[in-house]
Amino acid sequence: MGHIQFPKSFIWGTASSSYQIEGSPLADGASPSIWHAFSHKPGKTHNGDTGDIACDHYNRYPEDIGHMKELGINAYRFSVNWPRVVPEPGKVNEQGLAFYNKLVDALLANGINPYLTLFHWETPQWLEDKGGFVTREAVDHFLFYSETMFSALGDRVKKWITVNEPMVYSFYGYGLGKMAPGYKFNLKRLFHATHHLLLAHAETCSLYKTFSSGTEEHIGIAENQIWIRPSRSDNGKDKETAELMDSVLNRFYIDPVINGTYPEIALSKVGKFMPAGFEQDLSRMTAPFDFIGINYYTKQDYRFAPLAPYFHQKEVPDSRGKRSAMWDIYPEGIYNLLKRVKEKYGNIPCYITENGYPLVEAGEPVIEDDDRIEYLSNHIKAAHQAMEEGVQLKGYFHWTLMDNFEWHLGNAMRFGLIRVDFFNQERRWKKSAHWYKKLVETGKLET
Ligand code: GCO
Repeated sequence: MGHIQFPKSFIWGTASSSYQIEGSPLADGASPSIWHAFSHKPGKTHNGDTGDIACDHYNRYPEDIGHMKELGINAYRFSVNWPRVVPEPGKVNEQGLAFYNKLVDALLANGINPYLTLFHWETPQWLEDKGGFVTREAVDHFLFYSETMFSALGDRVKKWITVNEPMVYSFYGYGLGKMAPGYKFNLKRLFHATHHLLLAHAETCSLYKTFSSGTEEHIGIAENQIWIRPSRSDNGKDKETAELMDSVLNRFYIDPVINGTYPEIALSKVGKFMPAGFEQDLSRMTAPFDFIGINYYTKQDYRFAPLAPYFHQKEVPDSRGKRSAMWDIYPEGIYNLLKRVKEKYGNIPCYITENGYPLVEAGEPVIEDDDRIEYLSNHIKAAHQAMEEGVQLKGYFHWTLMDNFEWHLGNAMRFGLIRVDFFNQERRWKKSAHWYKKLVETGKLET
């Protein structure tokens, strides 16, 4: 048996987001986010679960950082709940900031480097009431918020992520309607929000460059990327459909910020839904940034479906392959997408900012999560292969430290290395936590 070895400088972390773990969404002067509003509407989440308590991380963060330290990770990716910090337009809530100040100080005191995501979907409800990201005004509000965060934490936080998964926010929030703000099949809203989110990313990067002075300071974006294939590999129509879906779901969110263009084949279908004059923003879209984060979970196979609306596509889960509780399992996808960063996106430094495996419990707690270990091991090996071939992969963030609120799927989908009992908040290490600890310690995986 051989093994692979990651370099000593490799960053090992875990990732989370505010609404999914913090709880106390309205404490200490915070105002509601769209996720607070959405999860409180009947029928929007599995079992009616909300983030009211989640992992109670707002109160238990010292204990949670204790677990991180015990795991040995040297980085932690988390997000800030925007309306905790800016509860009304133009107003900064010092008590909300105080929480993130304490969190950052505690991380640093334990030797854990904070990677701060500014936007993991918690649009303030006050902004949504004005139209949210469908309006260009959102970009200015975003900049006010980013500037507040850079000023408050920039002396200690050196790694920033502007926007998390703009594709998921737009498609699930305005297309499928499964996530906040919950519009269905509204393509005009969807593509307006897309454009403004990407613009908010770019303008924030420009702003950050006026704050940062050293070589340690880095800013980037976290993109959900799905490896997309034609369902029938020898079928020309399926191939065209796969190319279209790849351009709509993946490239639409990277090409503009790196190359200053939206993919042509996607624009030919959706250009009419874009804000008037969007072309004029494209030169500003490429504001320099330092890394790209890839959130990778799965692949999707598409068929041509002439009667289906909009993109004439049907996603067909691959019945031959393995599936998790949510998705097809396909480690080659992480390799392919990382290689694409090298080949198509100028080999910009990158991170896996999320990768993980959902488990559903049927009664008893699942602590022996061997399926997760197998999934992680195969994906991490595939990522290592890409590094061997010249991809500048700097680190890997496991989604996620502890079971948490999985959006519309509620608390049932468990992604944690640590099991959370949502009744008494007990944390219990799963087998995968011990496995990850060893990997982080040695940087080594048996092949
Ligand atoms: C994200 C993700 C996370 C999810 C994870 C598992 O967008 O960053 O949606 O918030 O919990 O991807 O689905």
